[in-house]
Amino acid sequence: MLLGSTGSIGVNTLRVVDNLGNDFDVVGLAAGRNAQLLGEQARRFNASHVALAAEAHAGAIRGELNGTRLHLGADAAREMVEAADADVLVAAVVGAAGLPATLAAIRKGMMIALANKETLVAAGELVNPLMRQHGTTLVPVDSEHSAIFQCLQTANGAEQRKTVKRIVLTASGGPFRKATRKQIERATVAEALNHPTWDMGPKITIDSATMMNKALEIIEAHWLFDLAADEIDVIIHPQSVVHSFVEFTDHSVLAQLGPPDMKTPIQYALTYPDRSPGCSDPMDWATLSSLEFEPPDHERFPSLGLAYRVIETGGTSGAVMNAANEAAVEAFLGERIRFGGIVPLVAEAMDAIKPRPVTDLDTVLEADRAARAFVRDRIDR
Ligand SMILES: NC(=O)c1ccc[n+]([C@@H]2O[C@H](COP(=O)([O-])OP(=O)(O)OC[C@H]3O[C@@H](n4cnc5c(N)ncnc54)[C@H](OP(=O)(O)O)[C@@H]3O)[C@@H](O)[C@H]2O)c1
Repeated sequence: MLLGSTGSIGVNTLRVVDNLGNDFDVVGLAAGRNAQLLGEQARRFNASHVALAAEAHAGAIRGELNGTRLHLGADAAREMVEAADADVLVAAVVGAAGLPATLAAIRKGMMIALANKETLVAAGELVNPLMRQHGTTLVPVDSEHSAIFQCLQTANGAEQRKTVKRIVLTASGGPFRKATRKQIERATVAEALNHPTWDMGPKITIDSATMMNKALEIIEAHWLFDLAADEIDVIIHPQSVVHSFVEFTDHSVLAQLGPPDMKTPIQYALTYPDRSPGCSDPMDWATLSSLEFEPPDHERFPSLGLAYRVIETGGTSGAVMNAANEAAVEAFLGERIRFGGIVPLVAEAMDAIKPRPVTDLDTVLEADRAARAFVRDRIDR
């Protein structure tokens, strides 16, 4: 089952599934608004269920589907997960909207291929115990976390985990790696969407430009690999070829390398623990003249510090940071705020909204709503 099938990860997932031949049947597909593409995908992959969040767009798909059950509305993806039977869920919805459906899939014991990092940022405290309770396996799709996950796969995995000193997440540095504070402050939407190495959806592309994407990934790594804040570092690596490192207590370092193409980590998550012939272009080592690394600049990119604050604070602080960021990015894309206003708005929301212990999904969703309302209110004023 694939949630977010019409997006960048979703479309690449279907390419991977195509490449894997008869290994996978697509049971269900979910999207937000793009009913036309969803309909085409459902017919092409013979899906028995489809879910569309934006009911107003349903006209483009209703009547086009022969024998496919259509779920509609804000809760359609979760409804589909509960109604259909599948072994694997690819969670590739953008934002916290993907959370309820992913939690439903965990409850059903489905294997989760997780691209939707916002799920762990907002609700890592719920996800981990739920996975243990239902015996669910989660394989990360994010290229950095896939790299760490792959570096930790050895015959004595559990033993090896105890010898991890730290992990180092690589970051391309985004389009403003060399920009001054002034240039960053006034960056336009077109400049911020012009990512140097990765081709991704608009929200994560803006997150890469503010380095909020790396901040979200620090929190994602904290929950995925049970690491403390001081065990997670970031390094800028503009070529995006080394996808991350694991450093062990003996100072030996393992890294995973590959082309900057999400089809590779998507396929690894689908075929895990096996490997199959890939469909991304292989690395051309002869044309790769150098691999550069430099420390991140916390002054120009203060978002990274917010991630460590969330790990230290816990509770609903991750849900607040994530939702405030989603609302601020949306406002920037709608040209209602400056690029330089995104991260300060997130920090303000985190200062203003008191974190609470995460007891259930409702506490997370309440914090999410409060953060979005706070950002909207600040922008309106
Ligand atoms: N793109 C990458 O290379 C990459 C890499 C690592 C991690 N990720 C993560 O993967 C996730 C998806 O990123 P993306 O770049 O693929 O985003 P994207 O291109 O913007 O696609 C987002 C997908 O989510 C769907 N969607 C939005 N709201 C929905 C809802 N309420 N219910 C069901 N579906 C909904 C969209 O549907 P419509 O388009 O039909 O509205 C679309 O299919 C994000 O969490 C991102 O951080 C992405």
